[in-house]
Amino acid sequence: MSAVTELGYMTIGVKGLSRWKDFAAEILGLEVVDEGGPGRCYLRMDSWHHRLILEEDGSDDMKSAGLRVAGPEEFAGMRKVLTEAGVKHAVCSRAQAEDRHVLELLTLEDPNGNPLEIFHGPHVQFSKPFYPGRRMYGRFETGTGGMGHCIMRNRDLDATYRFYRLLGMRGGIEYKIPTPDGNTLEALFMHCNDRDHTFAFGLGGNKRINHLMIQVDNIDDVHYTYELVQQRKIPIGVTLGKHSNDHQYSFYFLNPSGWLIEYGWGARPATHQSEYYQEDFYGHQYQPNVVNPNWEAVDLPSAAE
Ligand SMILES: [Fe+2]
Repeated sequence: MSAVTELGYMTIGVKGLSRWKDFAAEILGLEVVDEGGPGRCYLRMDSWHHRLILEEDGSDDMKSAGLRVAGPEEFAGMRKVLTEAGVKHAVCSRAQAEDRHVLELLTLEDPNGNPLEIFHGPHVQFSKPFYPGRRMYGRFETGTGGMGHCIMRNRDLDATYRFYRLLGMRGGIEYKIPTPDGNTLEALFMHCNDRDHTFAFGLGGNKRINHLMIQVDNIDDVHYTYELVQQRKIPIGVTLGKHSNDHQYSFYFLNPSGWLIEYGWGARPATHQSEYYQEDFYGHQYQPNVVNPNWEAVDLPSAAE
């Protein structure tokens, strides 16, 4: 059966490329690779050619999330699954695949209008060890769990669940959070490997992406980043805390595009069985001047200055 195996890379549209490059290197610790293309650069986290592509298009939002399948047979199998299910998709040219540094590529949208890419064969550069953009105690956790996880725009949780099941993911509702207005916020989490979740849906936000989580293998890097964020007066949206579902110890802060980065450590592997929670272990307090309880980022024009 064809199934996606990880979030391999993501393309992000930005307004201020130089400000984003500085943020990626100096705050996140990512390696900035500029290959000379106008209005574009790559960000590395490990031996892959890139994990993030920044494109200066003014959108300040996610442009596409790249999901990996194991190889050419699984790629062909996925095309068949999509065709038989009537899901519109476009198989990309060799030049388009080369632009992404993968062997084969197709594009599609999920039921929420979130742009996705499915690929196999990423360009991996073991001859070019990861070189962090600033001091780090450890390294980023990628491996078979992919580059991290993200929360994306949701319009219909049932349709979203069915769509990602088609891609081979599993998951379900993992949080039912009582909100101050007496309602309940339900969030859907989908996984495709040992990372507790690769995509999640149901948290607010008017952009395609609510947050991107990247994970480090040393807790000292979370606290070192916390200090850098405070020194630079970058707005913290959610304080340090530990999630009940993935046990991630993390905090959230605004990036220059006005959505959130979650910087985490210590997540447990996926349990592969459904559970739900009403709250976290501790911490993770929303900062209402930065995000509201629905996780919508408050408009802060000077974010990350
Ligand atoms: Fe997260």
